[in-house]
Amino acid sequence: TLKVAERIKQTRSQALLGGGQKRIDTQHKKGKLTARERITLFCDVESFVEYDMFMEHTCTDFGMEKQKFPGDSVITGHGLVNGRPVYVFSQDFTVFGGSLSSVHAKKICKIMDQAILVGAPIVGLNDSGGARIQEGVASLAGYADIFQRNVLASGVVPQISLIMGPCAGGAVYSPAITDFTFMVEDTSYLFYYRPRRSKAAEVSATIRTISVTNEDVSQQELGGAKTHTSISGVAHNSFNNDVDALLQLRNFMGFLPSQISFLLLSENAAIRGKHNLDVPALDTVIPPSTTTPYDMLDVVLSIVDERDFFEIMPKYGKNMIIGFGRMNGRTVGIVGNQPKVAAGCLDINASVKAARFVRFCDAFNIPIITLVDVPGFLPGVTQEHSGIIRHGAKLLYAYAEATVPKLTVITRKGYGGAYDVMSSKHLRGDINYAWPSAEVAVMGAKGAVTILYRGKPDMDEREAEYIDKFGSPFPAAQRGFIDDIIEPRTTRWRLCRDLDLLETKKLNNPPRKHGNIPL
Ligand code: COA
Repeated sequence: TLKVAERIKQTRSQALLGGGQKRIDTQHKKGKLTARERITLFCDVESFVEYDMFMEHTCTDFGMEKQKFPGDSVITGHGLVNGRPVYVFSQDFTVFGGSLSSVHAKKICKIMDQAILVGAPIVGLNDSGGARIQEGVASLAGYADIFQRNVLASGVVPQISLIMGPCAGGAVYSPAITDFTFMVEDTSYLFYYRPRRSKAAEVSATIRTISVTNEDVSQQELGGAKTHTSISGVAHNSFNNDVDALLQLRNFMGFLPSQISFLLLSENAAIRGKHNLDVPALDTVIPPSTTTPYDMLDVVLSIVDERDFFEIMPKYGKNMIIGFGRMNGRTVGIVGNQPKVAAGCLDINASVKAARFVRFCDAFNIPIITLVDVPGFLPGVTQEHSGIIRHGAKLLYAYAEATVPKLTVITRKGYGGAYDVMSSKHLRGDINYAWPSAEVAVMGAKGAVTILYRGKPDMDEREAEYIDKFGSPFPAAQRGFIDDIIEPRTTRWRLCRDLDLLETKKLNNPPRKHGNIPL
């Protein structure tokens, strides 16, 4: 037994060293933390419980039987984050480049299965050279086993990926399915096809790579954090470095429920019922002219607790704001048109961005607050040909199917079909407010009179008449399409009060296998 005890101790200490000190040093030189350091930083102090430290890869080709590392290339287990259980896997780049062996996949699948049973979020810290080349097809099977679990866990427990190194080939599809994907700037990348060094690059002073289709592009340009947070929309945000990313992720986890049935209330219950005061600054947010832009983020920050707002996709589809905040301690999802960018109109990117967010909130019982100032959908050939009809329909579908409490505030424009989409009363909005500056209409006055009175005189007069008729919240209020016209300063406490009221809301869609959202 002494021998066994000694062997346990030895194996454990070997596992703690991963691929050895030399490779750990290389990892640090790249500005990256090791897989274990990342877990330590992410989880509450001494809360991490590790599984499968003794598992080893099973490959016997290419001399692999002589190269074994206890635990192989991923660290798995569960820990606490802000006192709540979270399942974590952290790929260890120091062991075979964090590549995915069948054992690596089995370790990940084990914690995913348990996370679903227990009802706790799954967080993946990705840093991997992809499929374990020596294992070939066994490795591909491992990816598919993970994908299948990602899909089954979707809408059951929150899944989050933080990309902290390479992630390429088949490996990208697990993060793609998870609810949120974050990246570390400069040291991480995501792409399906890795760009390679070109002949030209070998003789050129500036080191460039080319894509498989011979386009001149660097790794970062093809799949770095900047690309995915601003151009492709694949990642939801990026952070400066490992430490920043892990601390922000801890903060982010605080906004999420553990599972579907989890009620998100403040750790500090005392906060509930307080802050029910007017916010006078909201009275002056809307500029006197209806065409002058303002920053909807000012409204968001004024209504959430302690101006604490975790914005999602801040660099993508900037005409739409989405993110999490708390109201009297309770997590809410906020969706708002941003009049500062493209007048806050709905385009393809903004629609898809908000649609997925609305569906996340609905899946996890997070109430949705929608701030509306929308002049319509973005016109033009590019939008029409790229499918604004089917992409805009995603947002419409998402709002219409959502059964969580839905609160809407029209701050200024609610024009055309876009008005309907933005959590209108007609899509089962629970409580819909308008500020006195609101105008709910089919379109702006200028456009309307050009169509109604083409070629007729006195256009200015007719425009004034149209504004008088529709440029106010009255026509919508008279029909009950909004429940009340409220002073902006009262918005926050009204929403807090309504959330209390709607806590017991019960609404079910007709039973079915699943709907068919226009993808
Ligand atoms: N399978 C097995 N081992 C791998 C691996 C993989 N997919 N990817 C990396 N490794 C190993 C390397 O052999 C090296 O081993 P060593 O420490 O014993 O020398 C170690 O991981 C580190 O890799 P290295 O290439 O030195 O690191 P790098 O930072 O210079 O480059 C990558 C990282 C990921 C860009 C590079 O390793 C790579 O291109 N890997 C192959 C990716 C791939 O095509 N995967 C399969 C398809 S999905």
